[in-house]
Amino acid sequence: MSTVWEPGDAPDASAHAEEAERLVSASYTDDDLEIDRSLRPRCLADYLGQGRVKGNLGVLIDAAKGRDEALDHILLSGPPGLGKTTLAAVIAAELGVRLRTTSGPAIERAGDLAAILTNLEERDVLFIDEIHRLNRAVEEVLYPAMEDFALDIVIGKGPAARSLRLELPRFTLVGATTRTGLLTGPLRDRFGMAFRLDYYTPAELAGIVRRSAGILGVRIDTHGAEELSRRSRGTPRLANRLLKRVRDYAQVRHEGHITEDIAAEALAFFEVDHVGLDTMDLAILDALVHRFSGRPVGLNTLAAAVAEDPDTLEDVYEPYLLQLGFLTRTPKGRQATPRAYEHLGERAPALPEGTAQSELF
Ligand SMILES: Nc1ncnc2c1ncn2[C@@H]1O[C@H](COP(=O)(O)OP(=O)(O)OP(=O)(O)O)[C@@H](O)[C@H]1O
Ligand SMILES: [Mg+2]
Repeated sequence: MSTVWEPGDAPDASAHAEEAERLVSASYTDDDLEIDRSLRPRCLADYLGQGRVKGNLGVLIDAAKGRDEALDHILLSGPPGLGKTTLAAVIAAELGVRLRTTSGPAIERAGDLAAILTNLEERDVLFIDEIHRLNRAVEEVLYPAMEDFALDIVIGKGPAARSLRLELPRFTLVGATTRTGLLTGPLRDRFGMAFRLDYYTPAELAGIVRRSAGILGVRIDTHGAEELSRRSRGTPRLANRLLKRVRDYAQVRHEGHITEDIAAEALAFFEVDHVGLDTMDLAILDALVHRFSGRPVGLNTLAAAVAEDPDTLEDVYEPYLLQLGFLTRTPKGRQATPRAYEHLGERAPALPEGTAQSELF
C-alpha cells in the first residue's frame, strides 16, 4: 500500500522524496503489479487507442480464424508501458488459443527454447518479451521454427554426426521489443507483420483513465481525467499509476473526488510537471542546458551526469523528450532544442553563423 498522510499533516521532505522517487522509478511495487493486472484489457474492444495497429490486427485475426490457420508471426515494438505485453495477450484471447509467455533473457540455451517449442500445441501464441536480448545460439533455433515449423537437432559429433528434423505444431510467435534497431536482420525478416506502438494522444489516454477509474471505483470528472492524461507521457502504464497516486491524494487531502484542480495539485506534489516531465527528465534537460552549455553530449556521458543507466536513458526517457521536441540526436550526441530552453524558462543560445534552425530539430 502506498504512503497515506494524515489530513493537514505535511509529509516531511524525505517521505516526499521517497514517494516521488517511487512514482517515477521504472521499477514496480507488488501493488502496481496487482493494479496492472486488474486494469489490463482482455479483448481488442477494451484495448483503447492504437487504431491503425488494432485495425490491421483485427483483419489478420479474422482472416486466420476464417481459414482455420495459425496467425502469422507478429513483432510489436515501442517504448515501455505502451501495451505490447497486453496486446500479445489480447491477440491470443481474440484467436481463442493458449498464450505461452517467456522472455529473451530467460532463454539461456538452445535446449531451453527447444523445450518450450516442443511443448507448444497447434495454434498456440508464444510470446517472447525483450526478444532483442535472445543470444545468437538460441536465435538460430528460432529461424527454422518460425519459417518451417521445424526443429533441427544434431545427434553425435564429428563425421558420425547426423541431423534430425523434428516437426513442430503450427504456432504464432509474438515478439516484443523496446528497440527494433537491436534485432538482427534475419530475425526481423521472419515476422509476417511488424507493428510499432506510438505514444497515445491525450484523448486516448483520457479514455484509458476513465476506464481504469471505473474498474477501481474512483470518482473522476472529465477535466480531471484530461489533466491526468496530459501529464502521463502518452503512456497507459503511467496514466494508471498516476491515477492511483492522485486517488490516494484526493482521498487524504480532499473528499476523494478527482477534479482538474485536484489532479493538478496532486501531480505538482508528486513533481510531475504540466507536460508530464518528472525529476529525471528535468535533470537530463538541466544537464544538457547548464552542465554542457547546450553542446552535443554522448549518451554515456549524459547518463553519467544524471546517474542513470545508459540503456534506461535511451529506452525510457529519451523517446518522450524526442517526441516533445525537447531533445535532438545529432551525429555528435544529444542536444537540447530551443523548445527545451523555453520549457526551463531560459533563452536559447544564439545559433552559430550559418546554422539552420531546422538542424536543431
Ligand atoms: N491500449 C490500452 N488500453 C488500455 N490500457 C492499456 C492499453 N495498453 C496498455 N494498457 C495498460 O498499461 C499497462 C502497461 O502495458 P504493458 O505492460 O502491456 O506495456 P508494455 O508495452 O508491455 O511495456 P514493457 O515494454 O515495459 O514491457 C497495462 O497493464 C494496461 O493496464
Ligand atoms: Mg511488456
